[in-house]
Amino acid sequence: MTLASDQNLTIVNHPLVQHKLTLMRKSGTSTGEFRRLLREISQLLAYEVTRNLELTEETIETPMCQMQAPVLDGKKLALISILRAGNGLLDGVLELVPSARVGFVGLYRDEETLEPVQYYFKVPDALGERLVIAVDPMLATGNSAVASLDLLKKAGATNLCFMCLLAAPEGVKTLHAAHPDVPIYTASLDSHLNEKGYIVPGLGDAGDRMFGTK
Ligand code: URA
Repeated sequence: MTLASDQNLTIVNHPLVQHKLTLMRKSGTSTGEFRRLLREISQLLAYEVTRNLELTEETIETPMCQMQAPVLDGKKLALISILRAGNGLLDGVLELVPSARVGFVGLYRDEETLEPVQYYFKVPDALGERLVIAVDPMLATGNSAVASLDLLKKAGATNLCFMCLLAAPEGVKTLHAAHPDVPIYTASLDSHLNEKGYIVPGLGDAGDRMFGTK
């Protein structure tokens, strides 16, 4: 894969990722197609996010002989979906790593303070012993990502990364400032946020597009 890495930001610049992302950006792409493409891209992103997982060896029998073969070591990783759009990335990653543990973080924005408020939080045990991958397709202002990572660290997570489909420079800056230890993986670093907090050029509201809501 071609990767553009800068500090703790990795852009997965693979031709398949970029092609599929273009299809997702088009306003005429159907809900079903959007979901399928998101699932496919999530697996290509996860391939990079999991590149440094530890391996150990076990003895196995092939039809030919015995061998020492590599297998994943340590505790199962934890996938944390930031609701609701995070579920679109979660499904694809789970197909790739079916034994992963899964958690959910639900936040809404208080209309007066504009601060994220938690309404749901359920995560696997022993977070401190797992690679914890927080997933949300859109890293826009970064406020909900920061709040989610705050909660995950409070729950014991120490080895975290953040996986998204699109990132805005504003969100990357906010996330890096609050959590400089958390690497970000994305398919694209877009231009900017508009006055309503949408990523430009972006793809619109990721949740609405994947669930067919308005
Ligand atoms: N959330 C979205 O779904 N889209 C954006 O552009 C920004 C935040």
